[in-house]
Amino acid sequence: MNILVVGGGGREHALAWKIAASPLCRRLYVAPGNGGTAEWNVPIAAGDIPALTEFALRQKVDLTVIGPEEPLTLGLADALRAENLAVFGPGRLAARLEGSKAFAKEVMAAAGVPAAASRVFTEQAAALAYIDETGAPIVIKADGLAAGKGVIVARTQAEARQAVQSIMGGAFGAAGARILIEECLTGREVSLLCFCDGETARPMVAVQDHKRARDGDEGPNTGGMGVCAPPPFWTPALEAEAMAKVVRPTLLEMKRRGAPFTGTLFVGLMLTADGLRVLEYNVRFGDPETQALMMLLRSDIVPLLAACASGGLNMAAALWRPEAAVCVVMAAPGYPGAYPRDIPITLPREIPEYAAVFHAGTIWREDALLSAGGRVLGVTARGPDLAAARARAYALTEEIGFPGAHFRRDIAR
Ligand code: AMP
Ligand code: GLY
Repeated sequence: MNILVVGGGGREHALAWKIAASPLCRRLYVAPGNGGTAEWNVPIAAGDIPALTEFALRQKVDLTVIGPEEPLTLGLADALRAENLAVFGPGRLAARLEGSKAFAKEVMAAAGVPAAASRVFTEQAAALAYIDETGAPIVIKADGLAAGKGVIVARTQAEARQAVQSIMGGAFGAAGARILIEECLTGREVSLLCFCDGETARPMVAVQDHKRARDGDEGPNTGGMGVCAPPPFWTPALEAEAMAKVVRPTLLEMKRRGAPFTGTLFVGLMLTADGLRVLEYNVRFGDPETQALMMLLRSDIVPLLAACASGGLNMAAALWRPEAAVCVVMAAPGYPGAYPRDIPITLPREIPEYAAVFHAGTIWREDALLSAGGRVLGVTARGPDLAAARARAYALTEEIGFPGAHFRRDIAR
């Protein structure tokens, strides 16, 4: 098969790495890719729908795998399907599960999915009056896509008021014209990603993200500084509960609405004292969750992706290594604030088979590998348990030349 991966982050490098290992993959393309996917790169931006469609037709691409949320919410999958091309990823309507938090809440309510109580506001005055009434802590969320920064967990009413004013005042552009004000939940968070073909869902190993920039969950939120999979508190019973109460009802509801969900449904869960609650849906693979998941997936991924795209996932098995994986993100100094680019990177000459260094923001210039983004590398290893995987991943970070690299020392601790 000719396979096109759309995107250019660590997630896409991990997907390309796994796809390239499949005997079913004849030609692989990554658009636009990064330094880690250089041998497969095509210089087309992930948001350029006409150019990607034209490329897929011209190169006879048999399957397109869409990584990031933007092209999904813009309708890349629909444009490709209109040309009878197979796509892994939801169409624009189903992608609204991530693109609009108000829509997601509507689906959760209709499907009976347990979630935080929440109200939608389009008027600032009404939102502020509601905060005065309910008090804090309380959670304020921009309705639309805000690169993971549109959620503010306000400890005080003053903080909540400020969040409303900032979001509705245009901090996230049109994404903040509508906001949600939500009950503040507490508990452990876990991400469950599932392969979906519109009807059948196959869960992946559960993953725990580390969103804060610094050790001990301090500092600002980021796209994710590292993950471990599976988290020590995750159990088969919790997985069964999440599938029964969240994933399957969501798929049924989307099908009923005429927008069946295909691709990766990623549910952000919180394990509260009152049971499991959904915090959000994402309509794609996570980054850096995917780096750890690809290390653990034993099955060939290509038949799974193809079954999600074309139906028949009930006939395809996803087998996982009975091991643990850890991914440590090495970021540019200053991330998630302002950071320099063009930092020279040197990689270890040999990487053991239980590990991989996935590139997120890198570029080759002449023969030099340079940083080209905030999150630069995802150093990933698996092992018989989390402690072993963690030790292997951190040992590998020691062998990487990356002056000023910023990374957490407590992933999976
Ligand atoms: P989201 O993008 O909706 O997952 O929100 C980002 C982060 O905000 C989550 O990973 C949680 O840590 C936090 N969060 C979101 N919703 C709530 C809530 N209702 N209560 C407490 N924390 C929340
Ligand atoms: N790591 C969180 C996400 O991909 O949304």
